[in-house]
Amino acid sequence: MKIIGNTIFITGGGSGIGRGLAEALHKLGNKVIISGRRKGHLDATTAANPGMQSVELDIEDPANIASVTSKLIQDYPKLNVLINNAGIMEVDDASGHVSEELLTSTVTTNIMGPIRVTSALIEHLKQQEDATVVYNTSILAFVPLALTAVYSATKAALHSYVLSQRYMLKKSSVRVIEIAPPWVQTDLLNSNEEPRAMPLADFIRETIEALSVDTDEALVKSVLSLRSNPGPNEGIVVNRFNDMMLQPQA
Ligand SMILES: NC(=O)c1ccc[n+]([C@@H]2O[C@H](COP(=O)([O-])OP(=O)(O)OC[C@H]3O[C@@H](n4cnc5c(N)ncnc54)[C@H](OP(=O)(O)O)[C@@H]3O)[C@@H](O)[C@H]2O)c1
Repeated sequence: MKIIGNTIFITGGGSGIGRGLAEALHKLGNKVIISGRRKGHLDATTAANPGMQSVELDIEDPANIASVTSKLIQDYPKLNVLINNAGIMEVDDASGHVSEELLTSTVTTNIMGPIRVTSALIEHLKQQEDATVVYNTSILAFVPLALTAVYSATKAALHSYVLSQRYMLKKSSVRVIEIAPPWVQTDLLNSNEEPRAMPLADFIRETIEALSVDTDEALVKSVLSLRSNPGPNEGIVVNRFNDMMLQPQA
């Protein structure tokens, strides 16, 4: 995608990967508007990046999405990039009872949220000469982590939606790009200090490089083999991956 000269709206831009992408794209000279539920995180991010704007948004709430996106279009008529980044991840147990609360919040946030936000902005984006919708799925969309079965399933569903939407928009000015991160050091599952996870700064640098070329999937090198896994024998890699992840740490 064109990496400069855009007006970019990022969900979940007050922390982790969203904040990292927001800051990198802001430094490149794009107009960046971040969103999320925690005003304190949004304010801290905009204060550290003069010129960046923020708006409170809960992507679990369809009415909130409708009002915030309609004001966004009014305030930023040149808006041409949407980055669907916000998401939640919780540990579940697919071999036993799955809590109704976890199921509803994960599906509502991780699938319905990005679909609703995109749906609210798509007609505006189609009117732009050059527009992009980015979805942050996960490498777990391709190789599920059994300990987070619902989360992994939402990301696989989002990947499927991306494929359909890209096809449906192929004759429009809107490109659809997927980011499928590996484990990255963020607040997600308290992974900030996790040695097995990729440092956030490295992930952002490699992802911005990957976004800068004409691509459908902006992937960092470490996920390429897992990304290639799906196929009739995918269970072999899934089992090996989960055995490795569930091994007690020395
Ligand atoms: N870190 C990883 O290892 C990893 C790997 C693969 C994919 N990802 C994906 O990367 C994305 C960002 O996660 P992260 O790792 O950067 O963790 P994070 O720091 O916890 O970021 C998640 C962001 O989503 C926002 N969010 C959550 N629920 C929301 C809601 N209902 N409405 C609006 N915003 C909401 C949060 O903001 P508020 O709480 O302020 O609303 C937060 O800024 C997620 O989609 C995640 O699935 C992460």
